Amino acid sequence: MAVVGGVGWGANWLTAYSRHERSNVGSLDFRNRLRIPALLDPQPGADGVKRYALELATGESEFLPGKKTATWGANGPYLAPTLRARNGDKVALTVRNKLPDDTTLHWHGMHLPPAMDGGPHQMVAAGDTWRPHWTVHQPAATLWYHPHPHGSTGSHVYRGIAGVIIIDDEHATAAGLPSRYGVDDVPIVIQDKNFNDDGSLDLTETTLSDDIAAIDNVGVLGDTILINGTYDPYHEVTTERVRLRLLNGSNARVYQLGFPDDRTFHLVATDNGLLRRPQGLTRLRLAPGERAEVVVAFKPGEKAVLRSFKPDLKVSFPTGRFTGGDDTFDLLQFRAAGKLKPSPELPATIAGAPAPIEVPKDAKRRKFEFVATRINGQAMDMNRVDEVVPAGAREIWEIERGDGRVHAFHLHGATFNVIEVLGEKPPVEMRGPKDTVYLPGTGTIKLAVAFDTLTDTEKPYMYHCHVLRHEDKGMMGQFLVVEPGSEDKVPRTLKSSAAEHGGGHH
Ligand code: C2O
Ligand code: CU
Ligand code: CU
Repeated sequence: MAVVGGVGWGANWLTAYSRHERSNVGSLDFRNRLRIPALLDPQPGADGVKRYALELATGESEFLPGKKTATWGANGPYLAPTLRARNGDKVALTVRNKLPDDTTLHWHGMHLPPAMDGGPHQMVAAGDTWRPHWTVHQPAATLWYHPHPHGSTGSHVYRGIAGVIIIDDEHATAAGLPSRYGVDDVPIVIQDKNFNDDGSLDLTETTLSDDIAAIDNVGVLGDTILINGTYDPYHEVTTERVRLRLLNGSNARVYQLGFPDDRTFHLVATDNGLLRRPQGLTRLRLAPGERAEVVVAFKPGEKAVLRSFKPDLKVSFPTGRFTGGDDTFDLLQFRAAGKLKPSPELPATIAGAPAPIEVPKDAKRRKFEFVATRINGQAMDMNRVDEVVPAGAREIWEIERGDGRVHAFHLHGATFNVIEVLGEKPPVEMRGPKDTVYLPGTGTIKLAVAFDTLTDTEKPYMYHCHVLRHEDKGMMGQFLVVEPGSEDKVPRTLKSSAAEHGGGHH
């Protein structure tokens, strides 16, 4: 805080303040065809298991014309293939780590045994191979996967390892939503980057000191947008309606999605599943880690740009300016063909979509206060068990944003509904099945949480802020899911994770 005060700082502050309003609107030409991540949807083997092979490695990408960028990716230089499976499938993965660093691969939004979760306890040492496997047992949804090594999630994701997971089920198939992958059912991975003049990724997390208490340090906020690893992208539309599987794969940036003509699009799914009623919207906020499926209608021959407007972050001054609150970005241009193939009518209701989570009257309540980079005043400790939850529990989790900063709450291995936001009923777009949620204001949001029934007395799941710098700085906690009635019998200290598969986490 010594840096605050004095004429010099004042001038710097003004420069920094004005430099931190960013926009690319009007500066793109939409010259590059949108890349569509490869789809891995293997036939099951004789044993009924679907096998996926992923190889994490360094590579070289060309994003900006004529410039080479060193990147990380799975089965390619940047990002990762889309993995597809159905509810009920047995899946097995081979994750080969050819990166120079130890890392993990986490299946964000998946219900699976904690030992398979790919969180900070499942390190895969450089050169090693990890073989997780589980049975998919959750409704249709758009999930994603990314590294999760404690303290370095931000840099590993930023370098490029992230992919989409599509879970199908019979209800999603029957819903009549556009579903031809890459044609009218398109993954849209949104990321912001900073590039150095030589084309290399700028890994600098911030230009602001962590000591300036008034300002939230969220880490990387880029001035250049990549969609599916494509700079300056367009997508050709050949059908009347297109379903976008939106993923905010950015480290810290919150987007406020919409179209310049304010057209209505329909939200059909949130993070963890389909909505029972598609919801018409003109804007959709998407925080880091959140996903949404929307259906957009296009007119023959038109060009329409998906834009991120100034997000209403509901943070304190001047944090908003320094955390992207005044930024606007064109993301992707859609170019509709002169004649569009008919699409199924948008369903008014989606039969079989998950019902609201019912929580018993006497449900257990747990409170988590998010301030700066701490939860309930504590930093993440790999050996400390913060919460013990009985298997299959339905609980109320109250997440309080106790500061004026940008936070997004994420819970592993469970699904929740937001049931209250700062004392009010949540807006419709927050009410669907979720696993990640923006904390929209200083105050409390209440979640009805449905936990899974898989138990493990030694391997925890995580909950944390999905602003990756906050997570890396310790804004994370751990919970065990155990046999109901045994909550008080399990040790609250874990054996050193260094002894686990793949070696240490340092
Ligand atoms: Cu997307 Cu714990 O992570
Ligand atoms: Cu996760
Ligand atoms: Cu945070």
